[in-house]
Amino acid sequence: MSEHLFQSFRGVQDALRNTDLEQSMYTAGAIIMDDVLLTLHGAEHHRRRTASFKVFGRGYFRYYERDVFPATLSRTLEPFLAQGGADLIDCGYRVTLNLTADFAGIDRPEQSPAETAALLHCVKRFSEAATLFHSKRDHAEVIAAAGAALEEFDARFLAPSKARREAALARFAAGEIPEDELPRDVLTVLLRSYAELELSPEILRREIAFYMQAGAHSTANSTVHAMHHILDWCEAHPGSRAQLLEDRLLLQRFVHESLRLHPASPVARRRAGCPTQIGTQTAVDAGDDVIADIHAANRESAVFGADAGEFNPYRSIPAGVWPFGLTFGFGMHACMGRDLDGGVVPRADTRADDHQYGIVMLFVESLLRHGARRDPANPPLPDTSTQRPNWGRYPVLLDPR
Ligand code: HEM
Repeated sequence: MSEHLFQSFRGVQDALRNTDLEQSMYTAGAIIMDDVLLTLHGAEHHRRRTASFKVFGRGYFRYYERDVFPATLSRTLEPFLAQGGADLIDCGYRVTLNLTADFAGIDRPEQSPAETAALLHCVKRFSEAATLFHSKRDHAEVIAAAGAALEEFDARFLAPSKARREAALARFAAGEIPEDELPRDVLTVLLRSYAELELSPEILRREIAFYMQAGAHSTANSTVHAMHHILDWCEAHPGSRAQLLEDRLLLQRFVHESLRLHPASPVARRRAGCPTQIGTQTAVDAGDDVIADIHAANRESAVFGADAGEFNPYRSIPAGVWPFGLTFGFGMHACMGRDLDGGVVPRADTRADDHQYGIVMLFVESLLRHGARRDPANPPLPDTSTQRPNWGRYPVLLDPR
């Protein structure tokens, strides 16, 4: 069996668009990732993705960004503002946890700090198991902790959320409520097509656990990376904080530049299910491994310029290339949350007052508005438990209310 590494922008696109290649990075994390959307292939993947897509429409993202998220964000930030500071990792997870719970379909009836802490505990264990491929921790320990967290999650969060949705679906089937009164989330969509999608209670549980961690983990890390670059930039360019707070399209551009430099996973891995060809050059045998190096592709100087490895939000981006590069993936497994988190890429005629900016930009904007700055007595530290280049601790000071 051979390994084929693709590091150019075009090569990574060719690899990720090839439908003969199957997802192969998540076998170690099977306790969460077995048979979930990201690891399915072919017709089964297509059916589940098409069903789930009903939740991920642009119109709904827009509504969510304008009407739901601001209240969630301000409620979640409140205790951090009261104490005059936050660890951005912890705060990021708390904010994004609510976001993914809304999309996955997990109710939080108490809305209490204890309830958030319990959900957070479970979702962190799910993330650790899902990203086991890059983990430096003892694998058996991570898997055991994720197994216990799944049980806790099921009993406290999933089972009641499921019961509420099944009751709503029964009322809808009996003609007692119209379709638009059904909850709009992945859990409802999957329960509605349960037989057709050949689901089981175990698959449903893993699918919802996967959504919970996929959204929260990557959104929280992306926010912290963006804050790091923006705080550096503001230190080096006096006056730019005020400028960024006045120009929302510019701030979104800064966030996209950070997303380009920090894909959620530096590589995507696939295995060939049958002999195939990638691009015009590479013949791949059944069982060969294919590594799509998104990190390298996003820094290719032929695409992003001679300073492609630097944070430069003013760089020019070639037509047909997203400013965040391939950070949200490409092809059949491309991220369903891309427009939700990254917003829409502005066009020449985009109006700042009528634009979808994405959750990461809104979160960063709010932190900057509240005066977020690094704490000189408490420097940020990298996350040493994973090979992924993330922050483990990122303390900031915030202006008191
Ligand atoms: C900045 C934040 C995010 C980043 C960088 C990101 C990145 C990615 C990437 C690279 C993939 C494809 C992985 C592969 O090809 O192997 C992916 C898939 C996915 N993402 Fe995201 N993601 C983010 C946020 C979200 C959010 C907020 C949600 C949901 C609320 C989400 C839901 C998904 C789903 C469901 C898939 C699987 C799609 C499929 O396999 O068909 N993501 N994401």
